[in-house]
Amino acid sequence: MHVPVSEPGSKVQAQSPVFIQTENLCRKFTHGNGAQVVLAGLSFTLRRGEIVALLGRSGSGKSTLLNLISGIDRADSGRVVVDDKDLTAMNERERTMFRRLNIGFIYQFFNLIPSLTAAENIALILELNGRSAEMAMKSTMLLLEEMNLVEQGSHFPAELSGGEQQRIALARAMIHSPKLVLADEPTGNLDAETGVQMLQLLKDNVNANNSTLLIVTHSLAVARTADRILTLDHGVIEERSGDFAW
Ligand SMILES: Nc1ncnc2c1ncn2[C@@H]1O[C@H](COP(=O)(O)OP(=O)(O)OP(=O)(O)O)[C@@H](O)[C@H]1O
Ligand SMILES: [Mg+2]
Repeated sequence: MHVPVSEPGSKVQAQSPVFIQTENLCRKFTHGNGAQVVLAGLSFTLRRGEIVALLGRSGSGKSTLLNLISGIDRADSGRVVVDDKDLTAMNERERTMFRRLNIGFIYQFFNLIPSLTAAENIALILELNGRSAEMAMKSTMLLLEEMNLVEQGSHFPAELSGGEQQRIALARAMIHSPKLVLADEPTGNLDAETGVQMLQLLKDNVNANNSTLLIVTHSLAVARTADRILTLDHGVIEERSGDFAW
């Protein structure tokens, strides 16, 4: 099923080049008693520099969609093109390299490496992109200072609260100034005030780099601060105006 989504509504970004293009993206999962169609042919476009919110009920396929855009998972059919590179035509190694360099991913359940300290989790991203261990740690400590997380930097993930882990995951997604940040409910574990602060930091960061931010959220208030709002429901994506009811 092909469901067209209107062109980006953002006044600011209307002239920016297309950054993400999905074409008829389908993903189904097979369970014991049959197939579950999660994404039923999604076609939409995000532009460079846009901040786009994605809303949808639990189980609607938001995380599944982020996994396809980041190349962690593969679609059953359809195409994902990011920055003119067709992810669907890449092999796993190529997708990993592309993701490492270009994408910052704030996972819904953080995915911090348990055997590394919080600071090492962040610095690793820079090291994987070719920076020396010393330089990587220096940049990491600067960011942790900015985020008021210096003390937490020396802790292992299991020694951190859920909200602290989420903020470390946020730092890890921003440390290499990626062109694309995919954020899966990045404020879900934070109190309202910290959530607002972290969201602002994320936005300042992506704005400074003219990056694109796709942010999954259950909060209409958070969604309304974005340039555009998309909803995902029954496998179909739709563009919404800021005043729709949810
Ligand atoms: N690897 C998998 N194997 C089988 N089913 C899966 C897999 N990943 C996701 N699903 C199913 O796909 C559907 C969508 O899952 P997804 O995690 O994308 O939802 P979501 O919109 O992110 O939900 P939430 O808001 O609760 O995080 C769910 O019904 C889930 O059970
Ligand atoms: Mg999810």
